[in-house]
Amino acid sequence: MCGIVGYIGQNDSKNILLNGLEKLEYRGYDSAGIAVLNEDGVNLTKVKGRIATLKESVDASVHATMGIGHTRWATHGIPSIINAHPHQSTSGRFTIVHNGVIENYQDLKREYLTDVTFLSETDTEVIVHLIEKLYGQYQDTAEAFRQAMNLLKGSYAIGMIDAEDAETLYVSKNKSPLLIGLGEGFNVIASDAMATLKETDQYLEIYDKEIVLVGRNYVEIQKLDGTVVERQPYTAQIDASDIEKGTYPHYMLKEIDEQPIVMRKIINEYQDEHNELKLDEDIRQAMKAADRIYIIAAGTSYHAGLVGKEFIEKLAGIPVEVHVASEFSYNMPLLSEKPLFVFLSQSGETADSRAVLVKIKEMGHPALTMTNVPGSTLSREADYTLHLHAGPEIAVASTKAYTAQIAVLAILAADTAKAKGLELPFDLMKELAIIANAMEVLTDQKEEIEQLARDYLSATRNAFFIGRSTDYNVSLEGALKLKEISYIQAEGFAGGELKHGTIALIEEGTPVIALSTQENVNYSIRGNVQEVVARGANAMIISMKGLEQDDDAFVLPKVHQLLTPLVSVLPLQILAYYAALHRDCDVDKPRNLAKSVTVE
Ligand code: F6R
Repeated sequence: MCGIVGYIGQNDSKNILLNGLEKLEYRGYDSAGIAVLNEDGVNLTKVKGRIATLKESVDASVHATMGIGHTRWATHGIPSIINAHPHQSTSGRFTIVHNGVIENYQDLKREYLTDVTFLSETDTEVIVHLIEKLYGQYQDTAEAFRQAMNLLKGSYAIGMIDAEDAETLYVSKNKSPLLIGLGEGFNVIASDAMATLKETDQYLEIYDKEIVLVGRNYVEIQKLDGTVVERQPYTAQIDASDIEKGTYPHYMLKEIDEQPIVMRKIINEYQDEHNELKLDEDIRQAMKAADRIYIIAAGTSYHAGLVGKEFIEKLAGIPVEVHVASEFSYNMPLLSEKPLFVFLSQSGETADSRAVLVKIKEMGHPALTMTNVPGSTLSREADYTLHLHAGPEIAVASTKAYTAQIAVLAILAADTAKAKGLELPFDLMKELAIIANAMEVLTDQKEEIEQLARDYLSATRNAFFIGRSTDYNVSLEGALKLKEISYIQAEGFAGGELKHGTIALIEEGTPVIALSTQENVNYSIRGNVQEVVARGANAMIISMKGLEQDDDAFVLPKVHQLLTPLVSVLPLQILAYYAALHRDCDVDKPRNLAKSVTVE
C-alpha cells in the first residue's frame, strides 16, 4: 500500500505534493511526509497521522520547484515520525519515498550496510543507504540507482531526490503501481493518476523493473540494463469531478447513492444498439472453452465472486470455484483440464490476487480480470479485461464496486449462456433496469435505515448477519461492511449453521440481522430467527416484497430472485454507514485499513 507522488517543474511543489497526497490517502493514512529541494538543500517534513496534519506542519515559506511525497500504511515498523517517509541516507544527499515491501532487506543490510546506523525500523531505509553506498563506488547517481534496483527483491515504487541534482527525479517500480504524468515544462509521478489529475491527464505507464529519469522537459525510461525504451502516453479517463465529495459528508454515502447510476452505465456499456448483450468475442470464446471457472479475489470482491458463482453455474452451466486469493497458492485445488481464471478486483492492484495471476500465467492458464481500473496491473497482465464502470471508488469500504462486480458477472454468465445456446430465465438488461430503480428507492430510505441502526446497533459490541442460499453470501458482505467501518465485531452466517456452535454466542440483546429474499428458504430462515429470539436476540428481518410478514423491519422492492444481492446489500451498506457515524468513526478511512492492498 502507501501512496507516492513527485513533481519537478516551474511552480512551487509543496501544494501539488500535498494535494496529490490527499487524493492518495485511500492507500494508507497512518503517517505522511514530503521532501522538497531548492538552493538551500532538501527540506523534509514528516508527521504521524493524516495529510491534514502534514499540511499544518509544512513550512509555508519554503519555495521549491521539485519534491516527493508519501502517505503510509505501515508494514515494517509502527506508525511514527521516524518510520514515516521520505527517508534519507546518512549524508542527507539522497532522499526517497517507497511503496511496497523489500523482501531481502535483511540480506542487503548484512551484505552491504553493516557500518550504517539505521534510524527507522523500515525496509525502505535499506534502499537509500544502499544507493549512497553504491554512489561511493560509481560516483554517478543514475548508475548507483540502477545498481541498487538490480539488488532489490520484492515490490517497490520509488521516487528519489539527489540533493546535488535539482534537474532529475529518479524513479523505478516493480509490482507496485506507478505512473509518470506529462506536462508542459513539468512532469509528475504518482501511484495513481487521481493524485495528479489537476496537473495533467497525459500519463506514461511504467513496467516492472524499469528505471525512469524525470526532468522538467524530458522523461527517459530505461530497462535495468540501461537500454532506453520509447513509449506513447495515454489520456487518463477519469473526470476530476468524479473524485470530489461534492455536498456529501462522506465518499461512502456518495458511492452508495451512485449505485443506480452505475447500474445504468453498465447496462449502456454492455448492450448494443439492438439491445443485445455486447461482450468482447475473445472473452465469449474463452468462457465457452472453459470446463471450470476459478474466481480469485479478496474481501468484498470475494463476496461478489460467491454471488457470481451462482450466476455462472445456474445460467451458463459451467462449474465455478471461488477462492480467497491469499490462500490459493498454498491450497491450490486440482485444476480441471481447461480452467479459466477470473480475477475480481476493484483496484486491479491487490497483491494477493496478483501473486495468483503470476503463478497461473506461469502454468499457462488463461486469465480474465474484472476491475474498476482498466490500466491497473491485474488488468494489464491478464489476457482479457472487463471494466466495471463504477467510477472511482474512494471510500475504503467498497460499495458500488461490489454491486458493479455482481452486475458484470451476471452479464458474463448470461452472455456465455446465450453463446452456448442455453435458454435464459429472464431478459437480464431489463432486470438490471428494474434493479437500478429499486436501488433508487432504497437510497431514498436512509432515514428509516438510520433508525434501524439506532434500534439495533447503537449499544452493541457484536452482531450477526444470517441468511440462506444467496442471502448467506450477502450476509458475509453485510458483516464485513459493519465491522470494517464501525468496529462492531460482526459475523455473517448461514442461517442453518448457527445451531452447530455459534448460537452459543447469542445472549440478551445480541443483534441478529436476517435476510429473506428467497422464496424456497423464507420459512426456514424465519425459523432460524425464532431460534435466536428464543435466546434473547434483538433480531430484525429484511425481506423482499412478496415474502414479507407483518413485523419485518424492512421490505425490499421486488426484483428477480437470482439477482436479489444487488438490492439486499444496500440496506446493509447504509446500516453500516450509520452505525459507524453514530460511533463517531472515520467512515471513509477506517483504522488499520487502506483501499488498495498492494502487499501480500
Ligand atoms: C472491503 C474492501 C476490501 C476489498 C479487498 C480487495 O470494503 O474494500 O475487502 O474488497 O481489499 O480489493 P480489490 O477489489 O481492489 O482487489
